[in-house]
This record gives sequence, C-alpha cells and structure tokens, in this order.
Amino acid sequence: MLEEIKALSAQIKSDLSAISTPEELEAFRLKHLVRKGTIAQLFDRMREVSKEDKPLVGKEMNILRTTAQSGFDELQSGVSKKEAKPSEDLTLPPRTLYHGHEHPIMQAKARMEEIFIRMGFTIATGPDIEDDYHNFEALNFPPDHPARDMQDTFFVKHGDREDVVLRTHTSPVQIRMMQSHEPPIRAIMPGRVYRNESITARSLAEFYQVEGLYVDKGVTMAQLKGTLFEFAKAYYGEDIKFRFRPSFFPFTEPSAEMDITCFLCDGQGCRVCKQSGWLEILGCGMVHPNVLSNCGIDPEVYSGYAFGMGIERTQMLAIGLDDIRLFYENDMRFLGQF
Ligand code: DAH
Repeated sequence: MLEEIKALSAQIKSDLSAISTPEELEAFRLKHLVRKGTIAQLFDRMREVSKEDKPLVGKEMNILRTTAQSGFDELQSGVSKKEAKPSEDLTLPPRTLYHGHEHPIMQAKARMEEIFIRMGFTIATGPDIEDDYHNFEALNFPPDHPARDMQDTFFVKHGDREDVVLRTHTSPVQIRMMQSHEPPIRAIMPGRVYRNESITARSLAEFYQVEGLYVDKGVTMAQLKGTLFEFAKAYYGEDIKFRFRPSFFPFTEPSAEMDITCFLCDGQGCRVCKQSGWLEILGCGMVHPNVLSNCGIDPEVYSGYAFGMGIERTQMLAIGLDDIRLFYENDMRFLGQF
C-alpha cells in the first residue's frame, strides 16, 4: 500500500507540473480529486490495511490528498486571476489628459501687454522691494500726508533703514522710468504689489497691477481718454460704454477714475454695481508737474498721462467673477476653465 501511495504521489506531482491550461486543470481534478478519482479509490482500500499499519498509511494518505488538493487550488487561483483580467475594451473613451497651462492672471497680463504693445507701448519692470522715496515721496506723497493711508503698507526690516517697503502699487516704476529715460516715454509696467489688507472676496494682500505712462511734448487728457477707451474695447468688447469720473491721486492732476458699464446688468443697475450701472476699472490722470520735476523732466516743456489698474480686478470684470480669492485657491475646477 505504501508503495502505491508513493507511486500515486509521484504521478500527481508530475501531472501538476504539466498543467498549463484551464482544461488540463479540470482533467487533473476529474482524474484525481473527484469521488471516483485515484485518491478516493486508494482511500477505499484502507479497509485492507492491517490495524498496526493503519496510522502510518492513514498519515501518508492524508499527506497525499492535501498535496494534490493544494496543488490544484494554487493553480486554479492563478488561472482564474488570469481569466479575471479584463481584455482590452477598444470602445472605451480615452482617459482625459490634463494639460498644464498658464495661470488665468498671467493670461490676462499677457493679453493686456499685447493690447498696449499694439498701441506702441513698451514694457518696463521695477523691484518689488522699494524705498519710501520711489513708492511715495517722488510720487508727490509728502511725509505724513494722509494720502499715504490710502494704501496700507508692509514695511521691510533692512538694517537700520526705516524706509524700505514692499511696493504698494506699480507707480514707483514710473519714477524709475522717468529718472533713467529721456522723453518720449511710452511704457506699461506690469507687476506684483503688496498691501497690508485682510483677504476678502474683494481684496488680497498680494495682487497684480499694470501701470501706464506716456510722457512727451503736448500729451493731453484727450489722448489718455482715447487710449484707455481703445484698451477697454479691445479687452471687454466693442459694445462697452465708459465714463470718466473726477478723483484724487497725489501723483496726477487732474485725476480721474474710469468706469465701464456693468457686465451683469448691462448698465441697468444691480447688486454687483451697487445699482449704479457702472463699475470702476482704473485710476488715471495727467502726471503731476511735481512728479515730472522730481524726475528731472521740465514740466514747462513736457506733459504726460498715467494710469493704473489691478489685473485680478480687470479679469474679474471681464469674466463676471465675484470672489477674487478663487484665483489663488488652486482649485482645478476653477483654473481648468481658462
Ligand atoms: N497707483 C494707484 C493705485 O494703486 C493707481 C493709479 C491711479 C495709477 C492713477 C496711476 C494713476 O498711474 O495715474 O491705487
């Protein structure tokens, strides 16, 4: 009997090693593992074994059965795993590939630059960390002048100096341009600005502005209006209406703010435009004679206009967005729309 068990064990091992298809596995099961299979038949013959030999033969039989069964199980799970692997479905739509792209504010900045370049402006830049002179004083903000409070300032520790600030607007780049270039000067100056403001739906502590400056002989307010109107039409669409309102900035005289018709109500009056039908898009004016003199330009000979606008705000008005924070929350559902 032990001889027969040994022979069958060898047979089972060689059968197992030869299996490579589900059909062969099934044939193995029918040959060895079913009620009428080889193993069961040997078990039936246990009756013939003497009482003394039974424990040993029984043990060998159990080993045989376990080996056959676990060999079978192992192969079966391997085979079924192979079967479970889905075949390729060529009718499935392809997975979406997400492409990176420029941030919407950088796109808006590029659009503005393009419009002004077409009108003959060049692009100038200046440092984000400024001194009081360029950010305020040369722009005709005298020390202790209340206009300094219009822009809540971040001061920067820099050795013993107390006049170092993060620029609160891009207007100091005007000063740098006029100090280093002879008129005619016609440039826009895009860049990041910083204000000590709390972050709300309408304000950020860090945002972008584009400044514009044109200095030459005989520059007029009519030219300023014409240039800004052309810009507004190119940016917001041909149908846009605009108006100039008197305003105050220390560095321009006269000063104005420009409004366009509200994108939401088309000038009828609504919540967004506080029932006025108008939305402010920028500040502007004729460069103050003091500012020209501060930069070594003779105000008796030259005149200039200047303007400044926030890029986020301009873009919000173009797309009808009511919360500025969305630009910087890195939410793909928002950013992916641009
Ligand atoms: N610097 C102003 C601000 O940040 C914006 C501005 C207004 C710029 C009038 C100008 C200007 O050049 O002429 O609020």
